[in-house]
Amino acid sequence: MKAARERIAALTAYDHLFAALLDQAGVDVILVGDSVATVLQGRDTTVPVTMDQMVYHCEMVGRAVQRAMVIGDMPFLSYQISTEDALRNAGRLLKEGLAEAVKLEGGAPFAPTVQRLVDAGIPVMGHLGLTPQSIHQFGTYRPRGRDEQEQQRILDDARCLQEAGAFALVLEKVPAELGARVARALEIPVIGIGAGPHTDGQILVTHDMLGLFTRFRPRFARRYVELAQTIGQAVDGYCRDVRDGSFPDERESY
Ligand code: KIV
Repeated sequence: MKAARERIAALTAYDHLFAALLDQAGVDVILVGDSVATVLQGRDTTVPVTMDQMVYHCEMVGRAVQRAMVIGDMPFLSYQISTEDALRNAGRLLKEGLAEAVKLEGGAPFAPTVQRLVDAGIPVMGHLGLTPQSIHQFGTYRPRGRDEQEQQRILDDARCLQEAGAFALVLEKVPAELGARVARALEIPVIGIGAGPHTDGQILVTHDMLGLFTRFRPRFARRYVELAQTIGQAVDGYCRDVRDGSFPDERESY
């Protein structure tokens, strides 16, 4: 798609119902993100989500999808301890979780891990810029790559991941100009999230773009609908109907 200059549309899903809806609507890539921790589990960060939980969510998504590419996120400490560990855990996302590829956060220090997984037949997507698993190291979710030195490091990391065999890269919350630079510099597709309009594709957290997740609202997350409000109105209507006796009516009764 990059070679044909077609932009790639990616979204997250964590369960069978949403994955089927996204797939039927024509999304190209479905990421079972470790954002499941903040979006569905009500955690403050993505750090606590476990390998078993990622396999559980991946499998539901994998079974639902006919068309899109399914990528499973490697959770914190599932690939940082050793390459063997990374291989075993990435393998679980493919074997048990039915994913077709895995994603991991980090640059040059993880190039040997990426290479090992790719050598074993596991496609790997990198993730640079804001890397939420490192939140306790950075202390903030502010944009990354704001000075030339950090931009150069991100660019070097991106080249290093490509060299190691990564098939694509997520680039999160960096200046649009850096998004364009990285996409230009790489042959593999760069999928941006808060990385401006010049990357080879975009990814959003589905629950953000549907207006379902309202705990915080990243500036880059365009909302296409306000489902939290719609659900609130529907539940309010149901409660009213139950309480005033208008639900169920004759047609809804046996
Ligand atoms: O976990 C996730 O959902 C992600 C995307 C935001 C890229 O990593």
